[in-house]
This record gives sequence, C-alpha cells and structure tokens, in this order.
Amino acid sequence: MDKEIKRISSESTHQICSAQVITSCESVIKELIENSLDSGTTNIEIRLQNYGLDLIEVIDNGGGIASSDFDGITLKHHTSKLRQFDGLLSVKTFGFRGEALSSLCAVSELSIHTYSTSDPTGTVLSYDHAGCVQSQLAKPRQPGTTVSARNLFRQFPVRLKEMQKTGQRELKACARCVTAYALAHTGIKFCLSHQPSQSGKRTVALKTSGCSSLDDCIAALFTTSQAKSLLPLCSPDSWLQILPEDQRPRSITDSQERILQEMDLSGRISSPLPGMGRPAGDRQFFYINNRPCQLPRLARLVNEVYKLYNRTQHPFVIMHLRLPTDAIDVNLTPDKRSIYLCHEHLLTACLKAQLQQRLDLANGCLSMPVRGLGPGLTDYPATPVLASSQQASGSVDADPPDSSSGANSPTPICR
Ligand SMILES: Nc1ncnc2c1ncn2[C@@H]1O[C@H](COP(=O)(O)OP(=O)(O)OP(=O)(O)O)[C@@H](O)[C@H]1O
Ligand SMILES: [Mg+2]
Repeated sequence: MDKEIKRISSESTHQICSAQVITSCESVIKELIENSLDSGTTNIEIRLQNYGLDLIEVIDNGGGIASSDFDGITLKHHTSKLRQFDGLLSVKTFGFRGEALSSLCAVSELSIHTYSTSDPTGTVLSYDHAGCVQSQLAKPRQPGTTVSARNLFRQFPVRLKEMQKTGQRELKACARCVTAYALAHTGIKFCLSHQPSQSGKRTVALKTSGCSSLDDCIAALFTTSQAKSLLPLCSPDSWLQILPEDQRPRSITDSQERILQEMDLSGRISSPLPGMGRPAGDRQFFYINNRPCQLPRLARLVNEVYKLYNRTQHPFVIMHLRLPTDAIDVNLTPDKRSIYLCHEHLLTACLKAQLQQRLDLANGCLSMPVRGLGPGLTDYPATPVLASSQQASGSVDADPPDSSSGANSPTPICR
C-alpha cells in the first residue's frame, strides 16, 4: 500500500461526507420538510416513487428561492440562516449548516422548481453532483418551491441494495417522520403519497388539512377515539415546588432558575387507566422548541412512570418542551435530532414529578406520594442526550388503542 499521506480529492470528500448527512429516504424528507417550514410554508406535499428510490419530491408554498441564490443554495455550508458560530446559541430555524441541499446533490440527481415574488417568473434548475447549476429554464409557478431528488444512492450500491430490500420499512419511517412534523405544526397542511412506479397508482399514506387544534391533528393522523382518550400535559405553577421537598436542590444557580422559569411543557399522554395505553411504544413523539428529537432518557422515564400506573401498556405521548435556545445544543449529530440539554438531570426530575401528578390526578389518587427520583438531586451534570433508535421503532399505522373515552381526566395542575 502507498503509505504517502495525500489529501482525498474534494469530489470524493464531498461524496463521503454527504452520505453521512443523507442516510435514507427518511432523512431526505426530514431535510426538505425542514427547509419548507423554514421558508414559511402553509402546505407541504411529499411525493414518493418506488419508496423514494426513484423520486422524492417535496412541494411547498413558502417564500421560494430568489434567483440571486440559485448558485449558492447547493454549495457546502452556504445558508441564509446562520452567519457565525455563536449564532448557534440563538438559532430558531430548523436548518443552520447549509449542508442538506449540497449533500442531496452528491447522492441524487437534484432539480428545483421555485418562484419568489422578487423575480419575474419561476425557474426550473437542475444541479450536478458537485452542486453546480447544470441547466436553468423559466417556468411559471405559484410562489414556493418544489425540490425533486431522483435516483437516490445510485453511486452507493450497498446502501441502494439494502434499501431496495426494505422499501416497506422505509415507507413507514417516512410516514412516521411526516407525522412527527405534522403533529408539531397543526396549522400546516401535510400530505404524503406513494406511487410504486411512474405508471403505478398513487396512494395517500397520510394527510392533514391545516387542523385548528392538536386534537384535530391527532384525529386526522390516527383516530378520533385516540384524540379523545388522551390527557393534556402542561407546566405547573413552579417547577421547583412540584419536586418533593427532600429532592429539591440545596442551592440553585441563576442559570438553573432562569431555565426552569422559561421551561414550558405541553402535549398529550394516554390516560393510565387499564386499556387506555398502547400495546407498544410506537406513538411517542418528543420535541424541543418544536424540533422533533430523540430524548432516550426522557422517553425511558416517561415509560417507566406510566408503567407505575399501567403495568401492561405503553403510553401514547406527544411531549413538547419549550426551553431557552441557549439551554440546548442541537449541533450534536448531523441529523440534529440528538440534543444536549443544560441541567438535564434537574429538568428531567421536574418533568417526572409533573408527570406523576398528572397521572395521579387521572388515576383519582391525589394523595399518592411522588416516588423515588433516582440518583440524588444535589449535583446536576450536563450530560448529553444521545441518539437512540427507540423512537424510530414501530409504525404509525398500527392498530388504534382499545379506548372509548377520556374518562376520569380532571384538569391538571397548570400554570
Ligand atoms: N423550500 C425552500 N424554500 C425556500 N428556500 C429554501 C428552500 N430549501 C432551501 N432553501 C434555501 O437554501 C438554503 C440551503 O438549504 P440547506 O437545507 O442546504 O441548508 P440550511 O437549511 O440552511 O441548513 P441545514 O443544512 O442545516 O438544513 C437555505 O438556507 C435556504 O435559504
Ligand atoms: Mg435545511
């Protein structure tokens, strides 16, 4: 072997790194949905052909892309969302690295049809694998953007072969991904459809119609009885006060106090009564600042607490946490789904106590003591919340739970 150290060609590095950002059809959909949401859309249509391997198309009615940006959008680390590293502490958009479209160019054949009202008309653009504009054609369109990724992973034979074998599983992962965003953006219409081949019949896998409430959205994506059976989650008056006295921290820093004051919890959880949960943990959605994320420790805790009331089932959970942007680090993994939380241990203990109060109320036993919170709460290491496959398990179209009503669900103690 030639032992001389040489730089890998930039074309090869581009392909190697891009295949780590775009890992599956689901990750394409995730990146494109996030771009559409960042563009201010109210309608997102996702169209797959041959499980996304022949074509993935995401159509939005957002602000579109101005012609002055046509060259820049597909170049590595070119973004309209972040300028400096320290901007990461206040970033509110889903994207910030300027890497998704560039990576998508490397692993597929990318074309974009877009119209921004700052231009006279719409344009269809096609890009080469390096992210350079190959052709540009005027074509009218309503304001917004259609991104089409064809022949995904053609230069990656191992991945392509594997994905050809697991099409149905990929489709379920895509549906779960769209479901996660739809549940967090009730006012936005989402539609996911699939066509086995170019001439095959297109079927709608899921659809929301810009629901006015979370319950409408749950009903549209699952069933009305599922929506009716769930309990609301919310913040207490004071996060510290709900911690049992012996578990309150002896001293609290200004940073912890500020984060707890700003932390807001909302969402839904299954009633703990027998039969109101689910046979599997397949409907569990966690968000921080509306970003779907993997919070394995919090997910484990929610399931453990629920098991104290309902031993045989898992809860349906939609858990939204609002936290100050400088209390989280979303830059842990390329998919931005793993999040590092400041004072995670303290926040988790507070959430556990609130969850128990919620389930106690629903269970009709207000006097139940809050059970042990695990390790002592005197020190709060800021430990990373690592990625897990836990939330990717299961399907969105599993059987609805055996639930008839949201009985025994008094108003929770909220702010
Ligand atoms: N659907 C869209 N509507 C309007 N602008 C878009 C759309 N998709 C992409 N863009 C523009 O293209 C740029 C590059 O998108 P890309 O997804 O590659 O990077 P990003 O969203 O900035 O960061 P990240 O790589 O973290 O997603 C965006 O910053 C945005 O300005
Ligand atoms: Mg993006």
